[in-house]
Amino acid sequence: MSTASLTTLITILDCHSTLKNDGEDVIQGLTKNPKTLPAKYFYDSRGSQLFEQICELPEYYPTRTEASILRQYAGEIARITGDCELVELGSGSSTKTRLLLNAYQSRNYSCKYVPVDVSASILKESALQLQVEYPALQVQGLIGTYEQALAQLMPTSRPSRMIFFLGSSLGNFTPQECDVLLNQIKDVLAPGDYFLLGIDLQKSQQILEAAYNDSQGITAAFNLNMLDHLNWRFQGDFDTNLFTHQAIYNQQENQIEMYLHCQTSHVVNLEKLGLNVTWKTGESILTEISRKFDLDTVEKELDSKGLKTIKSFTDPQKWFGLILCQATK
Ligand code: AVJ
Repeated sequence: MSTASLTTLITILDCHSTLKNDGEDVIQGLTKNPKTLPAKYFYDSRGSQLFEQICELPEYYPTRTEASILRQYAGEIARITGDCELVELGSGSSTKTRLLLNAYQSRNYSCKYVPVDVSASILKESALQLQVEYPALQVQGLIGTYEQALAQLMPTSRPSRMIFFLGSSLGNFTPQECDVLLNQIKDVLAPGDYFLLGIDLQKSQQILEAAYNDSQGITAAFNLNMLDHLNWRFQGDFDTNLFTHQAIYNQQENQIEMYLHCQTSHVVNLEKLGLNVTWKTGESILTEISRKFDLDTVEKELDSKGLKTIKSFTDPQKWFGLILCQATK
């Protein structure tokens, strides 16, 4: 028995605990017309598990496409940035992260990894798993929204820092929300620090809609699970049997829109929020937008914020893009 020799290099900070007005955004979204809910409410413990299953689906190309790009270029990314603190927004299971960690490790960099996720369970689980696989890696997990976590970041003791945001989760944000988030990221970076952004690129409606309406119904379960999450979190009485999943590609806006359609008129109560919500038959909630980007446009936008593209990487089909940029000024 020598468990004592295993020093723990993991710390986890719950940024949620500083949260006031929890659920204010739910009230906002459910009292407007048409109704909406923020995509972050997908990710309770079960939602994070379902998302992991989505990533494995034959129709859901983004994860494996981005992983193939990382597999090819992680070494080059590590060479460009040098030893640094790695901050990951929306780390989930940190599966793709391992491709980066391996690249930094094989250059003998003693990286520190700071995963950020709203789901406490998946964050803790993957931090423990990472410690087994990377015994020398220092892990500082942050539970909370991107905004909350970025506000908690201390100046790094490493030569530099790279914030990375993979999987095209930026696509969940409207252009205005992107603006706010990218500004916050820029403000947290010191001049010379790095930002690595993964974005899903525009492609045919058929491929896109198949990716969000999978034949096994996992995406439907993921979408409906948001209502169960709201039930336990805010003492609600949503009946998921009264809603159905749909995802459509909006060609004008270049975005997938995920909806839950109400099948029967009824009233839902969310006790903790003091909220009653009336539903009509056929009424829908927009639970997620997933924007599909143009690489040049995003590079220009980053540039206008003082995030200068060093190099972009794509797959042969140009289905997905990774932009490595550096904070100027
Ligand atoms: C994690 C936000 C990138 O938009 O593709 C997957 C979430 N929703 N299937 C995406 C999601 C439905 C995913 N992101």
